[in-house]
Amino acid sequence: MTPYEKLKKCADIVRAKTDFVPQIALVLGSGLGDFAESIKKVCEIDYKDIDGFPRSTVEGHKGKFVFGHIDNVPVVCMQGRVHYYEGYDIEDVVLPARLMAMLGAKVLFMTNASGGINKSFSAGDFMLLTDHIASFVPNPLIGKNIDELGTRFPDMSEVYDRKIADIIRETAKDNGIKLQEGVYVQLTGPSFETPAEIRMLSTLGADAVGMSTVVEAIAARHAGMRVCAISCVCNLAAGISPTPLSHAEVQEAANNAAPKFKVLISRAIEEISDALSTGAI
Ligand code: HPA
Repeated sequence: MTPYEKLKKCADIVRAKTDFVPQIALVLGSGLGDFAESIKKVCEIDYKDIDGFPRSTVEGHKGKFVFGHIDNVPVVCMQGRVHYYEGYDIEDVVLPARLMAMLGAKVLFMTNASGGINKSFSAGDFMLLTDHIASFVPNPLIGKNIDELGTRFPDMSEVYDRKIADIIRETAKDNGIKLQEGVYVQLTGPSFETPAEIRMLSTLGADAVGMSTVVEAIAARHAGMRVCAISCVCNLAAGISPTPLSHAEVQEAANNAAPKFKVLISRAIEEISDALSTGAI
């Protein structure tokens, strides 16, 4: 089966269960899984019921699609995502993003947890992604191009949509939520970085480091989606943080930030949808 045939098969399974067409696709990172509970649900599909769909093995990540409305915005929400470090092929890591594009979503809105490299960041800050560095992970478009989705050599000069970023900035301001911004670098993980690696990443221009998002963003842009992402800077990166890093610390910080994160995300989704529907962006 070609990657496109696999994707099509997954889309057909979803379509046999629901004809819901999302406008915005939402990927929830560590600690934010229960955001899906605030969606007015129309339908839920467990990843395990989609033959061929990759399923997460990480604690704190659930595994289902939730279709429904935030305010009146039709969304599909991924409650749980898979990471490259779990051992999946990079093509499987980006299959969900491509699938949501095929289901009709115009915007991919991602959240994640990261370590802060920029010295002006504090643990618990949110960072709007303005760009990324993909050079440390395999490119998800390697292999025969899927012409049905997009072009062989897609432009990446504006991965994170500037107009959508403006809306998110404005939304944060209106709700009194502090929002940093910067460049996110994805590494494979699962080990955290060494202090020397963090110094290297800082020199390269990265503000925050994590283990997700970038490959999905590339696949989504390839498939013609507009992309935005916000990171929860859960800890200061290795060598900047005075203490050793742990998944428990990341999870705890993400859980603490969740209430504010949820406000920012739901309000931003309403504003983005309004702007899309009125043709303002
Ligand atoms: N490094 C990589 N990924 C992360 C970190 C980090 O410090 N914190 C949360 N996800």
